[in-house]
Amino acid sequence: MNIKEKYSVCIVGLTGIGSGAPLVDGEAGYGPVVPHSHAAAYSMLPETEIIGVCDLRQDRLNQFEATWSQSLPVLKYYTDYRRMIAELQPDIISVVTSDNRHADIVVDAANAGVKGIFCEKPIATTLADADRMIEAVEKHGVKMTINHSRRWRPIFRPVMAELRNGAIGELRRIICSYGGPRAMLFRNGTHMVDTLCMFADSEPEWVFAELEEGYQDYWPYQGDGGRTPELEPSVSGYIHFRNGVRAFYNNEKRMFGRRDWEIFGTEGCITVNDRHAELETNAGVRKIDCPHRTLVDSPAAIRELIRIIENGGETCSPPRNARQVLEILLGFMASQKKGNVRIDLPLNENAV
Ligand SMILES: NC(=O)c1ccc[n+]([C@@H]2O[C@H](COP(=O)([O-])OP(=O)(O)OC[C@H]3O[C@@H](n4cnc5c(N)ncnc54)[C@H](O)[C@@H]3O)[C@@H](O)[C@H]2O)c1
Repeated sequence: MNIKEKYSVCIVGLTGIGSGAPLVDGEAGYGPVVPHSHAAAYSMLPETEIIGVCDLRQDRLNQFEATWSQSLPVLKYYTDYRRMIAELQPDIISVVTSDNRHADIVVDAANAGVKGIFCEKPIATTLADADRMIEAVEKHGVKMTINHSRRWRPIFRPVMAELRNGAIGELRRIICSYGGPRAMLFRNGTHMVDTLCMFADSEPEWVFAELEEGYQDYWPYQGDGGRTPELEPSVSGYIHFRNGVRAFYNNEKRMFGRRDWEIFGTEGCITVNDRHAELETNAGVRKIDCPHRTLVDSPAAIRELIRIIENGGETCSPPRNARQVLEILLGFMASQKKGNVRIDLPLNENAV
């Protein structure tokens, strides 16, 4: 398609992650300005313009107006996303509703002819929902990217380059630890598992797991779309990838709040968290430098989405990858349900 000067954008779902003002240097601890919300991300990109926003709640629309109306004077406000899409016909739509409320909006937007969709993570909470989203975007040739943010977070780019360049030899094992009160299976677990999958660079073949105490019979998803930690368990999980890589996911709400990945190869190990990365080999330990003055997270994701709309291909976080992550999370739950057994993928969620 032709390159456009401005891509018109609509946002559905206006809590902080949809609508908040940009965080400034230091607040999020990443160094550069972190836009945090979808609105803030688009506001950093001159090639995009937000023309409509939607939420079921009038107070959320009022709040958005209070924050953004000066810089976005032509904006229209809606409580019905279908009407918004039909009237404004945006190029891109951001789906920022609760985890279990992404699917209808994505399907309707794809059917209505948007060019690109930036959808929050996890893609959905059931495989059936993920499948109908994927079917709709593939049928209409719509480009979609899922906001598994570490795919665009600066420190992870040189780490991926080290892995590809063989800095640790052949990749063998990965351990991901994530503790703290919001260590929930879907809400934040999806980020951690997606990053494991990014490092493993292979298809998950089978999993087993033990869920948090008190959630022994947790099936199906019983959360409220990700808001309330008590409605989702944490998990100790194991993933066997087709290329022989094994991953351990060490996730606990009462555990000390560290989140990092230890990536072991035949010749070395990389330890990475959101800010630092270190490479250890027989030659010693060295810091892996993080790029600065670069787009972080959502604006980088949106710019990539636009490049893919213009040139074809897929983003680094396409819906089929996100479906794999969801399948792992549901596989963990299925393992628990069946007595902590091995669950071979693909998972039949109707037979659990
Ligand atoms: N990438 C990240 O780091 C990150 C951080 C926070 C939240 N999230 C994701 O963002 C999404 C939203 O999270 P949240 O905690 O704000 O959710 P929430 O459930 O608290 O709020 C969702 C908002 O969407 C609105 N909404 C729901 N259905 C709607 C519909 N059909 N039409 C219009 N508006 C609708 C609700 O009124 C509400 O204002 C979730 O998928 C969550 O996982 C991602």
